Amino acid sequence: MAKLNSHTILKICIIFFFLCFINCKNKKEEKYIIGFSQCISKDDWRKAMDYEMKVEASLYEEIDLTIFQANEDIEIQKSHVEYMINNGFDVIIISPLRPEPLVYLIERAHDKGIPVILIDRKINSEKFTAYVGANNLDVGRNAANYIASLNEKQINVLEIKGSDNSSPVIERHLGFHKIINNEPNISVAYSIKDEDLEPRMSQILDSISVKPFNYVYAFNDNIAHDAWKIAKSKGVEKSIKFIGVDGLYGTNNGIQLVENGILLATILYPTGGDEAIKIARKILHNENVPKNNILNTTVIDYRNAEIMKNQYDKINNHQNDIENQQEKIKQQQETYSTQSKTLKLVLGLLILSLLLGGVLIYSWNIIRRKKRELEISNKKILIQQDQIKTSNDAKVNFFTGLSHEFKTPITLILSSIESLSENNIIKGNKLLREVGLVYNNSKRLLRLINQLLDFRKIEDRKFILKASETNLYEFSDRIFKDFEREAQKRNIDFTLKTNDENLKIYIDRNLMDKVYFNLLSNAFKFTPDNGKIDINIVNEIDNNFVKILFKDSGIGIPKKDLQGVFKAFFQASNNNKASSGIGLHLSKEFVEMHKGSIDVSSKHGTEFTLTLYKGSAHLNSDEIVYEPDLVDDSILNFNSDFEENDFIEVGVPNDEERYSVLIIEDNPDLIKYLRNKFIGDYDVYMSDGSDGIEKAFELIPDIIICDINLPDKSGFEICEILKKDLRTSHIPTIILTALNNKESYIKGLESGADLYLTKPFSFAILSQSVKTMIYNREKLRYYFINNIHKINIEESFGSVEQEFLTKINQIINKNLDNSKFSVENLASELNISRVQLYRKTKAILGVTISDYIQNIRLEEAKSLLQETLLTISEIAYATGFSSPNYFSTSFKNKFDISPKAFRES
Ligand code: FRU
Repeated sequence: MAKLNSHTILKICIIFFFLCFINCKNKKEEKYIIGFSQCISKDDWRKAMDYEMKVEASLYEEIDLTIFQANEDIEIQKSHVEYMINNGFDVIIISPLRPEPLVYLIERAHDKGIPVILIDRKINSEKFTAYVGANNLDVGRNAANYIASLNEKQINVLEIKGSDNSSPVIERHLGFHKIINNEPNISVAYSIKDEDLEPRMSQILDSISVKPFNYVYAFNDNIAHDAWKIAKSKGVEKSIKFIGVDGLYGTNNGIQLVENGILLATILYPTGGDEAIKIARKILHNENVPKNNILNTTVIDYRNAEIMKNQYDKINNHQNDIENQQEKIKQQQETYSTQSKTLKLVLGLLILSLLLGGVLIYSWNIIRRKKRELEISNKKILIQQDQIKTSNDAKVNFFTGLSHEFKTPITLILSSIESLSENNIIKGNKLLREVGLVYNNSKRLLRLINQLLDFRKIEDRKFILKASETNLYEFSDRIFKDFEREAQKRNIDFTLKTNDENLKIYIDRNLMDKVYFNLLSNAFKFTPDNGKIDINIVNEIDNNFVKILFKDSGIGIPKKDLQGVFKAFFQASNNNKASSGIGLHLSKEFVEMHKGSIDVSSKHGTEFTLTLYKGSAHLNSDEIVYEPDLVDDSILNFNSDFEENDFIEVGVPNDEERYSVLIIEDNPDLIKYLRNKFIGDYDVYMSDGSDGIEKAFELIPDIIICDINLPDKSGFEICEILKKDLRTSHIPTIILTALNNKESYIKGLESGADLYLTKPFSFAILSQSVKTMIYNREKLRYYFINNIHKINIEESFGSVEQEFLTKINQIINKNLDNSKFSVENLASELNISRVQLYRKTKAILGVTISDYIQNIRLEEAKSLLQETLLTISEIAYATGFSSPNYFSTSFKNKFDISPKAFRES
């Protein structure tokens, strides 16, 4: 079986819903249409007929009645009948104006199977379904019998007939005459037509002196009333008795005219409107109906007029009630219909929402199942990924760790070679060449390891750009010079050109150095002897770029390989020299860190083009650092290959003063190396890291060099503890580590380290840094000693030292007049040992603490001598000297003048 998806189910639901909705709607619209063609419209009898039909039809929901008014125009009536035949009317009711003109139409309807009901008037054909109306012969007979029943001697009748030759006109005349003919005392004196009433009756009444008629038999009540009016106008209305037909209820109609005495009687002629609808409904419900449906007729005179009227009143009231009720029913039906529509709609929506709910649950289940499956496969993938990552990470970490491990021994080898080169036995000896070979190869090894580590750093996104404004030509020239010697050796035409020697751009010198070095190494690697290599720096004056072109006349790169040269581990197909394949990849990454680009083209050799931005707008503020523009930083890297006498003299011993260095390091070789290097100029103390802090507190050295990866506490922790402790906070600290990443660098600075040097380090740099730091410390010391008074002021200098001095000064000033106040007292107030106090003050002030206290006493005494009238002995005691003599001697020693002479001067 085909699977249903939720989309298909949803579609089925919607179609189902609409089908239900349409079905409900159609059921309601099944109705029978009944049409009625009314021949005359103006009089009350016809209106009563229409009204009765409407009332009757309104009782049946299934019936829809339309009444067409012909207004006594036979052509209009014909067109109405034709319309009903052609437009699917279920029953046609006709009250024909005249019998003949309509016969063929009625027969046609009948032949077509449309039921035709004739009302009030007949036609000359039998092709109709039913006739409804009173017997007009009986009407005529009733009128005649009523006149006869009055037993008057002689009755002369004026008969006023209807103007047309409809069946009622003919039959009412016939029925009347049939009776009269047998009554000797009754004669029809005149028989006239309604249309001639006014002139003929007036003429009759005017022309004969003897009363010509005493009874009027009018074809209907309206005509009888008109005749009465004419008689009244002649003043003879009382001598004539008027009899009409219809007996209609209502103002100026038959029953009221009888009640008012205008008519003697009226013959009831019911309209049959309600009956016609009843018969039509029966036909529509396939019930048998008689062809002739004769309605009752009766005489209404003064005896029953009132009863009739009352009955009609009642009927009318009932009718009103019925109508009101019908109206209410209609309203209720409308309400019901609205409510039932709403209910159906709600039900429909309910069903739809149930179906949708079903679809939803179905879909939800599927989604849940799918989700579970996905989650499981996801988990599997994650586990696999984790496994791969863990094993990958482990491998990479192993290699990275190993590479780091390589750096220390290589640094040692390089530094040792530096030392060897200084050795007089080797200098000028053949051995120097061998040493140079070792040096150059060690450097190559180091470079490779560095590339490996850089690659890892790039992968981990751990590089931070440290761009500084740099003269590009000078920068390039420096690296150019490193390769010049090789160019000479191999007779390579090696040039550096520029169109702007003064151009300065922002570059990370360290990274850009690697880029240059890589591009030039490649160029030299693939360019044969006697070839050509150019560096061309082009300052594009019209735009914001500078281009650096590295062009060689080497073997070039095959076209198909050009795309891939910057990919990691890529080897060009024509390259059979050993290479790691990451140099160009790193170069591209480094250039892109500068928001620049690197491109390659190859045609008679290879050309690499670096495009770099001028200015610094393209860099973030944290990517910009200040570095002096190209100081002699040849000691900053190992780029220059070893050549005879290339090493720089470092560490000139200073006989006058020996500073102390504490080295906290756990690598025995490095310890040995550093010790040997420093021992000539410094008192060197060593700690393997297990007692670094204790030794620092004990020795208060002038400088501390500390590794990071130590067995007990890390270098960061040691540094932080020392920098927070009053005793050691002033000591410059250098962190020395193989961890060359942003986080460690920041951590080092946060721990309070003054310098962060990464391995491999140049001893020259380390030695220079130690010297500079000690020099700076001296400057600070000079500042402190010359600003003893200023240091007291509340404005903080922010350093622990400044706080320390402030505290010392406060304690000393408090005890200024106390000659027994000693260094021990001060140390105990400061919570440190006497020796620590001694070393700390010696370190930051350059004088012993007792000299310092003495200085303060003497400075105070000096100002008292200047500003007060106190005697010399008073001043001596006030400034804590045990005797005026001792004060005078001390004063003279310091200021080269006795207190007395000073005051006088
Ligand atoms: C009304 C009327 C009635 C009469 C009937 C005969 O138009 O004249 O008064 O009874 O028509 O068709």
